Amino acid sequence: MPPGVPLFPERASTVAGQVDALYAFLVAVSVFFSLLIAGLIVYFAVKFRRRTDDQMGEPITGALSLEIIWTIIPFLITMVMFVWGVRVYFTLYTPPEQALEINVLGRQWMWEFRHGTGQREINQLHVPVGSPVKLLMASQDVIHSLFVPAFRVKADVVPGTYRTLWFEVSKPGEYHLFCAEYCGTQHSGMIGKVVALEPTQYQAWLSGTLSADGGADESPTAAGEKLFVDLACHTCHRPDRQGIGPMLAGLLGTRVRLRDGSAVVADENYIRESILHPTAKVVAGFEPVMPPYQGRVNELQLLQLIAYIKSLAPQTAAAAVMPPQGQSAVTLPGEIPPGAAAAPPVPAPQLPPAEREGPS
Ligand code: CUA
Repeated sequence: MPPGVPLFPERASTVAGQVDALYAFLVAVSVFFSLLIAGLIVYFAVKFRRRTDDQMGEPITGALSLEIIWTIIPFLITMVMFVWGVRVYFTLYTPPEQALEINVLGRQWMWEFRHGTGQREINQLHVPVGSPVKLLMASQDVIHSLFVPAFRVKADVVPGTYRTLWFEVSKPGEYHLFCAEYCGTQHSGMIGKVVALEPTQYQAWLSGTLSADGGADESPTAAGEKLFVDLACHTCHRPDRQGIGPMLAGLLGTRVRLRDGSAVVADENYIRESILHPTAKVVAGFEPVMPPYQGRVNELQLLQLIAYIKSLAPQTAAAAVMPPQGQSAVTLPGEIPPGAAAAPPVPAPQLPPAEREGPS
């Protein structure tokens, strides 16, 4: 190992300690038993070696108590590993609800990050320290894998579905970001850095008008709202329960009953599927009349539509007639100082008023 390369990447997230503790336990158990077994092999080979040419081994008839012991002890140890591992796994795979959400698009060969306020970054991700960050990740082409060693988090980014990854950075700094799945000739160049800033600095960064590659876009929510109208989604998914499609306000994360009597949780992947292949899981009480949008919307647009649908909180459906002034649809755990967002505050999402007649 060349000098200066640390044995372990630094610990910079709230789960890093838990992951390392579990890892240390697994290594310790493995080392202990490896040494024990290797040592006993050598010891027994010497102790029970054949001393004369005609020496015969004693017949062995079994030892019940010994067999019970060497069954129970490994069982208990593996159960500790299992329960401990499951607890860490659930921590890693359950993003806190109030997490700051950032859209991630992986493609050959770069990482593209889009913040709720519209900032777009390539191979660089700015995040605040001390609050949970959730990445909603899609791939435009092949399987990639986002890996931040200092946070001890990694998740494959698979075409055709969404993966989420969350972390809470515990100290400011710059941390390496890798693609950890071979994805083509430039795979090794699909790297970048996470820049973790103190919350106030992060807000200042957010309020800056330029992103890494020179421009802030429309927020995903605002872009999604425009698409929602452009694709005429609003003619069927109306805010007043009168549409021929289900009402979408407050839908995300709820359980939905389907025509076949089963139920699903309306998460990002369900909504994605329902846009691309609407007849796959039709909501109870509705007809399978929606046309498929496979091939008509790309990954970026899907993320925008979902950001918009997510912003349709239940109460905003009632308030659709009169959007409260200055209320932002951007979900940040901390508040954004007024006027700080690069994009103009998105009004409480509203569907067009009832005079826009749907073909109901
Ligand atoms: Cu993307 Cu390797």
